[in-house]
Amino acid sequence: MGDPVLTDVPAVSLDDYAERARAVLPPDVWDYVGGGSAAEVTLAANRRALDRVAVLPRVLRGAGTVDLGTRLLGRRYAMPVGVAPMAYQRLLHPDGERGLAAAAGVAGVPYLASTLGSTPIEQVTRVGADVWFQLYWLRDRSLVRDLLDRVVAAGCRALVVTVDVPVLGRRPRDLRNAFRLPDDVVAANLPDGRDALAHTGAPGVSAIAAHTTASFAPALRWADLAWLRAQVDLPLVVKGVLDPRDAVEAVRVGADAVVVSNHGGRQFDGAPASVTMLPEVVDAVGDGCQVLLDSGIRGGTDVLRALALGAAGVLVGRPLLWALAVGGEPAARDALALLAAELTDALTLAGCADPAAAAELRTLGVG
Ligand code: FNR
Ligand code: LAC
Repeated sequence: MGDPVLTDVPAVSLDDYAERARAVLPPDVWDYVGGGSAAEVTLAANRRALDRVAVLPRVLRGAGTVDLGTRLLGRRYAMPVGVAPMAYQRLLHPDGERGLAAAAGVAGVPYLASTLGSTPIEQVTRVGADVWFQLYWLRDRSLVRDLLDRVVAAGCRALVVTVDVPVLGRRPRDLRNAFRLPDDVVAANLPDGRDALAHTGAPGVSAIAAHTTASFAPALRWADLAWLRAQVDLPLVVKGVLDPRDAVEAVRVGADAVVVSNHGGRQFDGAPASVTMLPEVVDAVGDGCQVLLDSGIRGGTDVLRALALGAAGVLVGRPLLWALAVGGEPAARDALALLAAELTDALTLAGCADPAAAAELRTLGVG
């Protein structure tokens, strides 16, 4: 790890970026990004469950040239992948949100901008990518409304509400590290009233958790989502459902997509791997909305697995932050290009001419 000679070799898998990022990042930032909640059981389960999904390839179907193009939320994207919303990207590299959004733009995939971005949303949309705004519901509803006005004015293409963070999960690595934001990384979309909390260290305390708890509304209901649906004329995505009954509720309040996600194992530890719940959620929503998957996607084979189990696409999280840490926007571009190349290979080898064909593949071993 951290061998300086190796870093001159192009990354050939997304995991290469993790190894290289670890060598350059402060240990507490590495832990914040890579870590999960509690015993990190769910974090580990995500990978194990994906590895257990075997996909039966088809042969002699004339699938020589693959077209990765996909429709998500009624818009055309270059592949069935989006950049997962992730907080505070300037922790990783000065290019931060602008760098990762620009890389998404080049790759032709949506960039999901977190409420907890360290760059104002207006500056993120300016780089020219298709930006979906991820909302964390603030305690003060008038602030939510202000934020929605800004999101629409900035030209965001969709609204993604994350519903699995009533409070931040207890993350032992952050508690041990007394993790706090450095002074130059701020929650740039929020009024700065509570910002000091995110920057104040204390033994055994995660400043990020303290800030989140003080800022976000903990007791939301489906009726609040119905209110939100009526406020904004953008496609609505509900991120962070695992139980098919919740997915059905999401359809009922007018969601255009759900993201089957356990937040990359960062929230409720003890939740199943998200891929384990994917088939049931796909079944439950039927034609009601699109289904996306995240948590543990690390390569083209994982995207194919998700497509074969009925997902319309996936979100990718940590690997893109590792790439950003290693080499800013250019490395993030390379990482997305690598994922596209891997997905092209996976589809070709499985006998599929496009992502839609992957939905017809048989799978073994989900669960
Ligand atoms: C996240 N995630 C997240 N989700 C969200 O809706 N809003 C957010 O601000 C954040 N912030 C965040 C920060 C960091 C450092 C990470 C790693 C993750 C969760 C993210 O969108 C996604 O669900 C998971 O990261 C997907 O899992 P993988 O691909 O990282 O395994
Ligand atoms: C996280 C939050 C901020 O997972 O969503 O760190």
